Amino acid sequence: MVISEIRHGLHGELTVPGDKSISHRAVMLGALAEGTTSVRHFLKGADCLSTIDCFRRLGIHIEETDGELLIHGKGLHGLNPPDSWLNVGNSGTTTRLISGILAAQPFVTVLNGDASIQSRPMGRIMEPLGQMGADIRSLKGNGCAPLEITGGPLKGISYHSRVASAQVKSAVLLAGLYADGPSSVTEPALSRNHTELMLEAFGGRVETVPEAQKATVYPEPTLKGRAVLVPGDISSAAYFIAAACITPRSEVLIRQVGINPTRAGMLKICGQMGADITLLNVTEGPGEPMADLLVRSSSLTGTVIEGSIIPALIDELPILAVMACFASGTTVIRDAAELKVKESNRIDAMVENLSAMGAHIRATDDGMVIEGGSSLHGAVIDSRLDHRVAMSFAVAALNAAGKTHIRGASCVDISYPSFFEDLRGLSR
Ligand code: S3P
Repeated sequence: MVISEIRHGLHGELTVPGDKSISHRAVMLGALAEGTTSVRHFLKGADCLSTIDCFRRLGIHIEETDGELLIHGKGLHGLNPPDSWLNVGNSGTTTRLISGILAAQPFVTVLNGDASIQSRPMGRIMEPLGQMGADIRSLKGNGCAPLEITGGPLKGISYHSRVASAQVKSAVLLAGLYADGPSSVTEPALSRNHTELMLEAFGGRVETVPEAQKATVYPEPTLKGRAVLVPGDISSAAYFIAAACITPRSEVLIRQVGINPTRAGMLKICGQMGADITLLNVTEGPGEPMADLLVRSSSLTGTVIEGSIIPALIDELPILAVMACFASGTTVIRDAAELKVKESNRIDAMVENLSAMGAHIRATDDGMVIEGGSSLHGAVIDSRLDHRVAMSFAVAALNAAGKTHIRGASCVDISYPSFFEDLRGLSR
């Protein structure tokens, strides 16, 4: 994909695709519920399609219509053994969350995915699920997929996670639906709470103590199929928020974006940086809050991004690094070593590629330091087949002199298949 510098700003409005995290969870809980779950604004990106494929192989009937996804759930104990390995593609969320469910099934399943998945750490879920009684083996003995999961009866545990990860938390909570007593997870900082919210909406019993970063699930609920409206994905909206902020003479309205506080850290940091963002038509919970975001060109200043806000913007750090290049002063990102174990090592990917465009950026052990204000020029970018890296550089390219060539740009299909069309729609 080749992207040229834009001269006249970005204008118009758009609705970004449904939230990836919530779409995955709707399929999973829909499968474990009794009756039909209908999902509107489901994200038909490759990752969520992997989740659908896995549950179809576990015997769940899932219909894709134009406007809705229909999941015909079979209850907590209705999954069938698959007749082959499950393919999770590139999706860490599919792998870690489904592991929690498979840990309790009376059969053996093997999960495998692409090269990126085969290098991502799974020890973080093998440990708590092992404590609950599941037998999970990394077939290559390296703590990564392929994973062979021999399910069976589980014990409730009280788990203190070393990482603030919603995927770890959700794996334990989902396994906890089948345990012999309550299961709780305490994390070092609060991660996204979509599993907790959706489990409650389906009739599960979950207790949360957000100030203690603790969630507890009670076993054997009767989950009931229901209608789910998936908000626009703030992680996808992030590229247009950034693009509108850094591109002079821009004004963009992004409709119905999910603004769950455990996900909306970017909005807070944008505020700190001086971004001109107005929230309109805010709808509060119960469930997932949403708003329309009106974003205008802004003059940005550098900031420090650290501590407990990191999990609330972990996927937005690549695009925040791009914004920081266009801010005056220094931006420091720390406490974000998790970036190294995402779909690619996102610290290296951002530092290498932004440096190629002329940015002043350096990697640290747990983040990046960016000196803003130097002009960027086009370059050849290696996306490392990481959707968030590819989209971040599309935004950088709009404000870099000359042309930028993004290698492997079609990986945007993972979370945002229509990304380049939507971007073009605003630049006409
Ligand atoms: C996700 C949680 C985050 C995030 C990922 C989606 C989820 O990962 O980076 O894109 O849906 O639970 P971690 O929980 O590993 O931080």
